[in-house]
Amino acid sequence: MLKFFAILAVCLFSLTPAYAQENSLEGDDMPKYISLPKPNISAGMPLMEALNNRKTIRNFSVRKINEQNLSEILWAANGINREDGKRTIPTARDSRDLDVYVIKQGGAYRYNPGQNSLELVNPAALIYTAAKQDYVKNADILLVYVSNNPNREYGAMHAGSAYQNVGLYAASNGMSNVVLGMIDKDMLHKELHLQDDEYVIIAQAMGWPKTVK
Ligand SMILES: Cc1cc2nc3c(=O)[nH]c(=O)nc-3n(C[C@H](O)[C@H](O)[C@H](O)COP(=O)(O)O)c2cc1C
Repeated sequence: MLKFFAILAVCLFSLTPAYAQENSLEGDDMPKYISLPKPNISAGMPLMEALNNRKTIRNFSVRKINEQNLSEILWAANGINREDGKRTIPTARDSRDLDVYVIKQGGAYRYNPGQNSLELVNPAALIYTAAKQDYVKNADILLVYVSNNPNREYGAMHAGSAYQNVGLYAASNGMSNVVLGMIDKDMLHKELHLQDDEYVIIAQAMGWPKTVK
């Protein structure tokens, strides 16, 4: 009997989706580098419908964002959409100064648009303490927008373009997202190991909604 349950447990574990296994990792077990799948640029609904659906949703289910969606979220935020390396967002004097960090269960990563990858910056469990509102702790991921543009107005505008792109992606895919000004920027600066000339602008919590309306 014991043998039967052991075999059943092994079978069930092998059926667990890869993203679920990855998301159950903690701290030092987090992969240092994640190569993301190519974003599917034919996915989603027409732009006018996405604009019509765009809204803040502050509830999150336990469902995880898989790597395909994550890749597309990050591409929408700050991905490369032309051969010369230019981005899905415009930047003043083509400065391309925006960096997007992803905080997920067990660690924080920096998005590398050129490699379409994530690089671990802190395996700390966990920096959801960055958010000052309780409901954010239920979000699957927190995007953090960072710039080193000496013109802070421009840096903020670039982050605004990125969170709006991501908000439209969320609307197009039925995901929850909230732009978050109420965050602990000093703590994030430290935990993301930012340079002195870099500054945290804003964050965006994301996940799948509990209720579909
Ligand atoms: C710059 C900015 C900062 C925001 N900060 C927060 C925040 O800290 N917490 C929060 O719950 N919502 C925050 N929001 C979301 C707004 O409350 C929300 O966009 C507004 O209520 C309008 O709702 P809508 O997005 O559904 O149109 C922020 C939005 C923006 C643009």
